[in-house]
Amino acid sequence: MKTVRYGFIGCGAVGQRRHLRESTLNRKIEIAAVCDINKSRARRVGRQFAAPVYFDYRDMLRDAALDAVVVGTPNALHADMTVDACKAGCHVLCEKPMTITTRDARRMIKAAAQAKRFLMIGHNQRFMPPHVKAKRMIEAGDIGRVLSFVSVFKHGGPEQWSADGMDSWFFKKAEAGFGVLGDLAVHKVDLMRWLLDEEFTDVSARVATLDKRRGRHLMRLEDTALLTLRTASRIIGSIDTSWTNYGLEENHTTIYGDRGVLRIGIDPDYPLIHETRDGKRRRLRVGPMSTNKKQHRSGVIDAFTDCILQNRQPPIPAADAQHGLAVILTAIRAAKQGKTLKVR
Ligand SMILES: NC(=O)c1ccc[n+]([C@@H]2O[C@H](COP(=O)([O-])OP(=O)(O)OC[C@H]3O[C@@H](n4cnc5c(N)ncnc54)[C@H](O)[C@@H]3O)[C@@H](O)[C@H]2O)c1
Repeated sequence: MKTVRYGFIGCGAVGQRRHLRESTLNRKIEIAAVCDINKSRARRVGRQFAAPVYFDYRDMLRDAALDAVVVGTPNALHADMTVDACKAGCHVLCEKPMTITTRDARRMIKAAAQAKRFLMIGHNQRFMPPHVKAKRMIEAGDIGRVLSFVSVFKHGGPEQWSADGMDSWFFKKAEAGFGVLGDLAVHKVDLMRWLLDEEFTDVSARVATLDKRRGRHLMRLEDTALLTLRTASRIIGSIDTSWTNYGLEENHTTIYGDRGVLRIGIDPDYPLIHETRDGKRRRLRVGPMSTNKKQHRSGVIDAFTDCILQNRQPPIPAADAQHGLAVILTAIRAAKQGKTLKVR
């Protein structure tokens, strides 16, 4: 097989702006079909990418002779779509958060294993060039033993991103499961686990709805979440996320080691800065970080496609995303109880 025939479930923002657009840049990818329950959107995207259009993903799985699907729909739909796609013999690239319950995460992993298909979760932060370089530097010992970190991800909310604006599923608990925790915090949990190559063992959290409203009433989903975490080797850190930053988007991380510091995403001209304990400062131009407004090629579907063609495990296994989900679910319980809890 030289190309992978993909079906795209969900023709919203992440489908259009990331996976479909990036597919047109990759000769190994065939856009075999697109699907959305919003018929006018599905037709428009089908025309744009010259692909057959479906309004029900089950019809697409049955008729479109696919090798793989991209699941880019509301969070609560990921599990059933992934399981059905695996049963239909497709590899699955599913967006984050992988799903909204532990049970569903297990179901997805089991379905992929039983069908002998690959399941990768779209934690694209791992592919951003400053993060890739930072991981290499941490592994090479450039900042010594890691002691602590601060990771921040804040913007003005999904109404500026989602295809449905203020009416988006992002603001509906049954479809989203989480607010900013499932949108932004889960990215940083995954990123920090991967950068540090460690599991989080303990979490405490403050979670609140400070400003996002439906009419005059505050929404039921959190728009602000601050997590404090500890890893197996006792690194401590914070993940600070919100949908209530109405200024410039912030997406930055600082990692403190016993021999230096890495600052990622603080200076747009120099996405990575390395400071050493003896006072030296290196500013590295290593490629940009994407923002909601400016999307750079993420490399996610390229990496997944290569894994399918070369029959090797994808770089963001679902088991990793399952651990990230467990951290988020534990953070919600910790916030409710006002306690630090073990991640389980
Ligand atoms: N990795 C990232 O950086 C990133 C960024 C944005 C969104 N996401 C994730 O991608 C997923 C989609 O988010 P989005 O931003 O594209 O949302 P969106 O609101 O822009 O689009 C969602 C689309 O799904 C469609 N849809 C809903 N139910 C469907 C169904 N049953 N069958 C087919 N289509 C259906 C909607 O009509 C809509 O077009 C979410 O899980 C989100 O968390 C990930």
